[in-house]
Amino acid sequence: MSITLLSTSLCIFLLAAIGWFLHKLWWTPIRVQYILRSQGIKGPPYKFFHGTTKQVINMRDESISNPMNLSHHILPRILPHIYAWKKLYGKTYLIWQGSQAQLVVTEPELIKEILNNKDGTYSKGKPDVYATKLLGDGIVVTEGEKWSKLRKIANHAFYAENLKGMVPAMTASVDAMLERWRHHDGKEIEVYEEFRLLSAEVISRTAFGSSYLEGKNIFDMMMKLGVIIGRNSFKIRFPGIGKFVKSSDDIESDKMKQAIEDIITAMIKKREEKVMRGEADGYGSDFLGSLMRAKNEADEKNRISVDNMVDECKIFYLAGQETTNGLLAWSVFLLSVHTDWQEKARKEVIGLFGQQNPNADGLAKTKILGMIFNETLRLYGPVVNLLRKVKREVKLGKHILPADLDVYIPFVALHHDPEIWGRDVQLFKPERFAEGVGKATNNNITAFIPFGFGPRICVGSNFATNEAKITLSMILQRYKFTLSPNYVHSPFQMLTIRPQHGIQIMLQRL
Ligand code: HEM
Repeated sequence: MSITLLSTSLCIFLLAAIGWFLHKLWWTPIRVQYILRSQGIKGPPYKFFHGTTKQVINMRDESISNPMNLSHHILPRILPHIYAWKKLYGKTYLIWQGSQAQLVVTEPELIKEILNNKDGTYSKGKPDVYATKLLGDGIVVTEGEKWSKLRKIANHAFYAENLKGMVPAMTASVDAMLERWRHHDGKEIEVYEEFRLLSAEVISRTAFGSSYLEGKNIFDMMMKLGVIIGRNSFKIRFPGIGKFVKSSDDIESDKMKQAIEDIITAMIKKREEKVMRGEADGYGSDFLGSLMRAKNEADEKNRISVDNMVDECKIFYLAGQETTNGLLAWSVFLLSVHTDWQEKARKEVIGLFGQQNPNADGLAKTKILGMIFNETLRLYGPVVNLLRKVKREVKLGKHILPADLDVYIPFVALHHDPEIWGRDVQLFKPERFAEGVGKATNNNITAFIPFGFGPRICVGSNFATNEAKITLSMILQRYKFTLSPNYVHSPFQMLTIRPQHGIQIMLQRL
């Protein structure tokens, strides 16, 4: 190739690259901003390349730099930009994750329209490069036929009858935890870590027929991956840059992804070999067993691949642990402060179970516990936000949204909105849920969606609430607890809402 031809090709390539970048980083954002502004949707102006991410990072760093007082007014701390900009720009407004436009939606009616959509207009979108290593292409991310197939398997594994069968395994795990607590009688204990171990043990036993120790490496690596995701969540990357230049986070997260997948593959192989050797007469009725049957399904339409199986295991290890951990820890925190509700809950538990372990029939009759968990999910719900991508131009309320826009639904803003919940919005008042969610929200049911809404609603919500009810019941049967003077109130977001320095309570045996 002559030098002239080479340099001409290089020039064309460079010009095309510059054109592509200008289109993506300047022209498209400006166009989207114009389209939405002309419909009255405001927001902080787009800044070249960074969008509004620098402002968001600064506001978040500032908001979590100090502990807060013991109030439940956590929106300005967890999502300070949403808190500040909602006041300035209204309930629906535009922000920028780099050059990606994100429409923040906090009106329940619009949220219902988005989450209830069934024709694929609002898709799940693609998680960022690090979250993809954690979630793979499993049920949380995927769509269409593949999603229906995976959802059917998960629904079956976590449906009501199967959950009843899990109660003994759950009580056994809580028993083991409470055995450890004996060493803390009359003393302090940090419950976030306790519930982390417990929820990991419960999901390992009930869904995968293994113990926490077997899954320990998976959980440890998932936690580290979670830290990397948190660290990078507002960093902007040049598209495709990871193929050429790898950061230390890229290398570390690749290693962890591979190691998690290797352990899961070995676990699947172990169960398969057990069946082949005749040591078990079937794959088992737990979630792993359901996945293995689907992998060996005769009808190709219903069959799933080994990669699908590995992704599903990853997701359920993660979803089954992280979220329930938060629900339990924050409800114990709230009851350690609001001891009148702790007494009410104890009375209900003793009335239903006496000193016996909880059973499925009694769990279905609990009312006070349900109200307490709802109020905990409202104030400190583990999932902070949902994201959807607009696939094609669509009418939402009175607005026309362009394709490729992200829709960002911040649960914390919705659940802490005084216009929905009243002036006592920041107070712990489980009595708001005494007559159900409909009454608590004035029949605005999408005002309270800790488990999501519509076809993608959480598949493990009953599993999580059962586990939480069993655990809290067994604690209340044995202990009174108050908040330790060592507790520092610092809720922050790392995947879910967590207590930055743990939750320390004082245990007093009954
Ligand atoms: C307090 C506990 C939990 C909370 C607050 C919670 C919250 C959520 C939310 C908000 C979604 C909807 C995501 C979306 O629409 O994009 C979701 C989906 C999901 N959750 Fe949960 N979750 C909890 C516990 C669990 C547990 C224990 C499991 C598994 C055993 C689980 C498995 C899943 C799965 C697989 C999905 C994806 C469903 C789909 O896309 O079809 N979750 N969860």
